[in-house]
Amino acid sequence: MNATSTTDEKLLNPFLVYDYICEANATTLVAFLIITTLFYQRVSCTLSPLHGRGIPVVPHYLPFFGVLPNFMLNTRVFITYWQKYYDTEVFACYFLGRMAYVITCPIASAQVFSGKYKSLTWEYIAKMIFTGAFETDDKMAKLLGVHPVSHKIYDKYLMNKTYLSDIVKAFQDSFAEIVFPTMLERATAPSEDGWSTIDAIEFFGGSSFMCTGHVLFGDTGLIDFELFRNVMFFITYFQKILASPWFMRPLYRKQYAARDILFNYMKEVIRKVDEKEGGIEQYAEVMQEISKTEVRTKMNLHDRTVSLLAPLYAASINTIPTTYWCFWHLLNSKECMETIKEEILTIRAERLEKQRLSKDDSGVRYTVEDFDRMVNIDSLIQETLRKHTTYRTVTTRFAEADCVIKVPNKGKIIPINVKRGDLLFNSPTLNHHDSELFEHPEKFKWNRFSPVNGKYPTFYKRGKELSKPVRAFGYGLTMCPGRRFAMTQIKILMSIILEDYDIRYKNDITPPTPKMAHEERGPCNGMPRESYKVEIRKRL
Ligand code: HEM
Repeated sequence: MNATSTTDEKLLNPFLVYDYICEANATTLVAFLIITTLFYQRVSCTLSPLHGRGIPVVPHYLPFFGVLPNFMLNTRVFITYWQKYYDTEVFACYFLGRMAYVITCPIASAQVFSGKYKSLTWEYIAKMIFTGAFETDDKMAKLLGVHPVSHKIYDKYLMNKTYLSDIVKAFQDSFAEIVFPTMLERATAPSEDGWSTIDAIEFFGGSSFMCTGHVLFGDTGLIDFELFRNVMFFITYFQKILASPWFMRPLYRKQYAARDILFNYMKEVIRKVDEKEGGIEQYAEVMQEISKTEVRTKMNLHDRTVSLLAPLYAASINTIPTTYWCFWHLLNSKECMETIKEEILTIRAERLEKQRLSKDDSGVRYTVEDFDRMVNIDSLIQETLRKHTTYRTVTTRFAEADCVIKVPNKGKIIPINVKRGDLLFNSPTLNHHDSELFEHPEKFKWNRFSPVNGKYPTFYKRGKELSKPVRAFGYGLTMCPGRRFAMTQIKILMSIILEDYDIRYKNDITPPTPKMAHEERGPCNGMPRESYKVEIRKRL
């Protein structure tokens, strides 16, 4: 009688739940935890008002953290799974105490990320890059992270054909006259039939970094293999150390040390330029203009070094893996190699003929127009960007203020009330594997984007033609200003090498496909974990 009344009392009185739990056995406790978690998981998504408006909310188990663990474990799997599950152009999820909207449709993404919603910015991520990887303070990060004045300068010098021509000429000279001969010197002595062996990551990735550094800063000291090794070491882990230097430094000491080696080297270059009258003229025009911006003239040497080094990092992080994989696929397909070689040799012969007729002795190997005509290399690069550079990537926007965005979903336009602090995600990886857009998206087809009988292939999503089906360079106002330069760099390396040399895998045997540094989880932009060997021989 007494015992029953105590149990009833406990059941009815919520303040006695603690006593009840203490007295419960392990099985009851586990069952209780499972039931509570499942109940929370159900409620967490179905009670959201977004459901009523046709925007599914992904269920989650953890308060505050929301879907973060599943998202971080494998972003690609997470986004693909829920997109398929809901068959939707947009879904929402709780993420670190805020709401995150995942825009899954390429058309909707292009609209939302275009810059037309001024409250949605890239600032949050850019700030994370500066404070995380470059250890600047918040104020500097905010100033430099998104700096429209600098963006305009990069756009002018790296996108506009007239200005880009100077950089393209300097890059060709740097590669043909200094970097390529240095690479050949490092190759093994030629075998009896003339082949020399060379490491792929050093040859292709190293050339991209060294020529870019040399051209931007006018300093041949950047043509250095030890510096390149340090850059590779740092940028391979770059995305992992964005979180917080305070937290990450003890875990990634060697990576930070590798970054400091390049940083200290560049600081010396910049200090010497500062001291020498007119020293700034050693830089490419784009870097001269960047150095002269008001914000930078007021900075101390340390901060200025960070801000001038940033474009070299931005360039290296993506161009090195892209170049590496482009050459991998060039060597992997005889058809690709023959078509591209013919493209290069034809354009080169036409350039020489034009120069002969106009008695032009400028020594220009290829003009920007010549590179623009290399449509088969273009296709190879686009396919590499689709499959490797965006292997597992997410584009992010942060809401600086409340705003209403309009997203097409299942034939209707749905307004979404985005709150200050919310996040918006789009995954180029997901879009690049959409079988409605790309036939057999899992396959690497080097000529997927090549014109056939002068006509470019078209790509449709929900009946609408997409002018840019591959989106590796971002969207809208902050879209990468180095995209044209990056594509041209790869064409320069291929043209100068294939013009006079044959190149193949070592012993003409295709090695196993190299693994990526972050193949399993986390962001992955195709940065390779391992290299492969190539053989090169001067054509007779
Ligand atoms: C395959 C090569 C490359 C890829 C895939 C790439 C991709 C990107 C992406 C995705 C962004 C962020 C855009 C956004 O989210 O809105 C970015 C920004 C940037 N990239 Fe690139 N990039 C490449 C090469 C280069 C090169 C060669 C340079 C310059 C030499 C460069 C300079 C920059 C700069 C300066 C920014 C920051 C823009 C700003 O906010 O003002 N990139 N890039």
